[in-house]
Amino acid sequence: MNLNSKMNKVAIIGAAGKMGSGISLLLLNLMSNMKLKKELPSNSSLVLIDISDEALSGLYQYLRTQMVKLAEKNINFLRETYADRSDLVENGEMIDEFISESLSIIRLTTALEAAKNATMVFEAATENMDIKSTILNNLCSLVDTNCFFYTNTSSIPISTLENIATLKGRIMGFHFYNPPSVQKLVEVIKAQNTRAEVNEFALELGKSLKKILVPSNDVAGFIGNGHFIRDGLYAISEVLRLQNEYTIHGAIHMLNRVSQDLMIRPMGIFQLIDYVGIDVFQLILKVMNQSLNENLQSALIDRYLAKEIKGGQFSNGQQKDGFLKYEKGNPVAVYSIDEDRYISLNEDRIFKIVDEKLYPLADGHSPWKNLLTCSTSDRDQKLNTYFKNLWNQNHLGAKLAKNYLLRSESIGKHLVDSKVANNAEDVNAVLVNGFYHLYGPINNLFPKEKN
Ligand SMILES: NC(=O)c1ccc[n+]([C@@H]2O[C@H](COP(=O)([O-])OP(=O)(O)OC[C@H]3O[C@@H](n4cnc5c(N)ncnc54)[C@H](O)[C@@H]3O)[C@@H](O)[C@H]2O)c1
Repeated sequence: MNLNSKMNKVAIIGAAGKMGSGISLLLLNLMSNMKLKKELPSNSSLVLIDISDEALSGLYQYLRTQMVKLAEKNINFLRETYADRSDLVENGEMIDEFISESLSIIRLTTALEAAKNATMVFEAATENMDIKSTILNNLCSLVDTNCFFYTNTSSIPISTLENIATLKGRIMGFHFYNPPSVQKLVEVIKAQNTRAEVNEFALELGKSLKKILVPSNDVAGFIGNGHFIRDGLYAISEVLRLQNEYTIHGAIHMLNRVSQDLMIRPMGIFQLIDYVGIDVFQLILKVMNQSLNENLQSALIDRYLAKEIKGGQFSNGQQKDGFLKYEKGNPVAVYSIDEDRYISLNEDRIFKIVDEKLYPLADGHSPWKNLLTCSTSDRDQKLNTYFKNLWNQNHLGAKLAKNYLLRSESIGKHLVDSKVANNAEDVNAVLVNGFYHLYGPINNLFPKEKN
């Protein structure tokens, strides 16, 4: 299926949000380039809809700045394309022309009615079933029955949205990772009735956006959050088990360091929950808990949120405090729900005691950052050696890491067994490409016996 058949009028709902703004940039760049190559009609438009005018003007500035950067990077393409334009000589003139053509495609508005007759819709509004259902229902009366819908929901089954809005096979999940313009992974999720052409178009679009597409089946949380949420709940259960001996802040610090340093992940689990947002974690948890026959809840998450401890990011991308407090992006303190305050890593001796429990690191250990740049075979060999040595250690940190690795593996296997993922490769692909893990949870890197 040709892309241009559906890109006459594209609408993005929730366009000014964290994900919506990235999706807007990706589609604006794609449509601008297609238009330059005369692959799109000259009246094609990208309608960017959100509920806040202020957020929309921020979105306009963001798109302008980012498009200039992209144009500067693609100057050779612009020089080729504008070769017959004698009025454009300097690079700056070509960039200005491109930006002006590009921005002429977009229309920013708070009126959902502006999506009338859209040929394709991207829904990236707040993760809330009522909000999404209302939007999709209202859109149905504005577009014709050939319009394709793609939702960025992180957790809500697509079939549920399809049924509520009677979309009859015209919707599927196109789940970008944050930030969409940088992250390569997109989980694609067909609902039970998704039409073949809606899926074909999604695959074509993903290819044009140079994304790595991994199919997930239509089960709440899909593969990525299916793993992340259970992984987070496991860490929380370990904190609750260890808190009497090490205090709650000490135990959070311990699990955070185990999951980052001993498991060689890009960040610790509590830093990751803060990055995603404790409130977002709870939202996804609730959707999964409602849909799945598993006890997926956390009183600790509820208690942090009751104290307005939320994590997430400021609009400039800076990390907000959550389980951990950050300075220049680095954790410097841990919130103690028992003492109702952040306790600095220098203040309480418990952090030193906890740190000592993690050492010595097993022979062959390298930080995540160092292994990232190795060739795959070199990295696998190093990880293999490290994990073999870790398995021979018996101090507390090693035991926690081994059990956590086995739990992560069993979550991965559960996703395959319960048919969320088609196979182990897809689970691993999501964790490696979406979460920047150096190894998938289902692997042959570590011995299997439990400690
Ligand atoms: N943040 C992430 O890491 C992440 C990753 C993958 C997917 N997602 C999913 O992407 C979607 C958006 O998440 P986000 O993090 O960007 O949230 P966000 O809160 O940053 O953005 C949501 C946007 O939707 C807008 N909105 C709310 N109601 C609306 C309405 N009725 N009409 C139009 N716009 C409306 C809000 O004003 C806001 O700008 C959610 O479904 C979320 O689960 C988020």
